[in-house]
Amino acid sequence: MKNLLILGTGKDQVFGIKKAKQMGLYTIGLDLNEFSDGVKLVDEFYRVNIKDEKEVEEFLNEYKNPINGVIAFGVDIPEILAKAAEIKDVCYYTDYNTALISKDKYKAKKRMEKYGVKLPKFSKIETFEDLIKRIKEFGYPCVLKPVDNSGARGVLRITEAVDLKWAFNYSKSLSKGGYLILEEFLDGMQISSESFIVNGKVYTVGLSERNYEFLDKFVPFIIENGGDLPPLLTNKQREKIDEQISKCAKAFGVKNGVIKGDLVVHEGKIFVIEVALRLSGGHFSSIEIPLNTGVDFLKYAILMSLGKKIDSENLKYKLEKYVSLRYIFPYKKGVIKILQFPEWFKTSKDIVAYDFYYKTGDTANYPVKSHPERLGFFIITSDKKENVQKLIKQAYNDIVVEIE
Ligand SMILES: Nc1ncnc2c1ncn2[C@@H]1O[C@H](COP(=O)(O)OP(=O)(O)OP(=O)(O)O)[C@@H](O)[C@H]1O
Ligand SMILES: [Mg+2]
Repeated sequence: MKNLLILGTGKDQVFGIKKAKQMGLYTIGLDLNEFSDGVKLVDEFYRVNIKDEKEVEEFLNEYKNPINGVIAFGVDIPEILAKAAEIKDVCYYTDYNTALISKDKYKAKKRMEKYGVKLPKFSKIETFEDLIKRIKEFGYPCVLKPVDNSGARGVLRITEAVDLKWAFNYSKSLSKGGYLILEEFLDGMQISSESFIVNGKVYTVGLSERNYEFLDKFVPFIIENGGDLPPLLTNKQREKIDEQISKCAKAFGVKNGVIKGDLVVHEGKIFVIEVALRLSGGHFSSIEIPLNTGVDFLKYAILMSLGKKIDSENLKYKLEKYVSLRYIFPYKKGVIKILQFPEWFKTSKDIVAYDFYYKTGDTANYPVKSHPERLGFFIITSDKKENVQKLIKQAYNDIVVEIE
């Protein structure tokens, strides 16, 4: 039996843990929270802070049983996975130093630029003066963000209406290293992608059109409201996506691995906002992609982390069902009194997953400034697009959120 080390046993990881168990693997789970949802599912659990490199390193140096592969589901810790793989001499997508570069939004762009990836104009921002200078150069609108955060924390869409001093200080307050990146804002369809790289060749299995209907409502914060699969893309555009991801794979030395992308179709061309050397979270790889394409994404990602050869035939689309994810937002700031899904969610075959991240008694923030402040989500699937759209409307109408 093969032993798989899983970093993270939270809600987002439950699908991955279950998949590994179904595949007959012996699972060793690490998490800071010993009461997290996946703790009961893994064969062995250890309380370790998976975001603390030293803690993970210490644990692995002491852990003497064999480990045949390491993986994380939806957690942004490529450098820690790379370190764990190094210690246990198993494979990972890239080496530790490259993983670190991939996590820094500025360093990653510098690296991608060298490899000819199509990027928005960008510049490193260390001082307020840098910001003023670059905005003059790029023109409005721009995007300002910390180089080292995620979940849209500190990501601001800068227009003439935004107080630049406030924006600089706010974004900086959410950066650990204290420096920022400014990019020109590229308008156009926003896409999430998820690709396998097998022996250097790209297979983009997951593509979703990100929904930004609340861009004006939460201005200047860029808050996504779910996504729709499949996006309306031509075959040529799909090819161009593979081409861009292939350049990213080369830039980060990934011959075998998974690359998640944030892309924009700007003036008909594919641009890369960023890529991450990891599996997506938020149910994209676990629910949406398999429903949309019939490809068992998690299974092949797990096999890859065990160093198994992947037959690319298994990564080809089998079906095209419509799948949409939508988030549930607070409507004001305050203490949550009621959070309730409608009864018909329980029996509808079209509702495949739904959950709240908050519970009654918690405080809801408003306006929403980052993705973790959304209250919950639901996922709908159907053979007909109109049906999905109808059910989204119905769901929003029937979900009860009361805040005092
Ligand atoms: N230059 C840009 N042009 C257009 N849209 C952008 C740009 N930069 C960021 N965005 C939008 O804002 C989102 C969040 O930005 P980014 O991915 O850089 O931050 P993040 O903290 O990693 O957020 P997430 O975890 O949602 O990916 C992007 O996925 C994209 O939709
Ligand atoms: Mg991103």
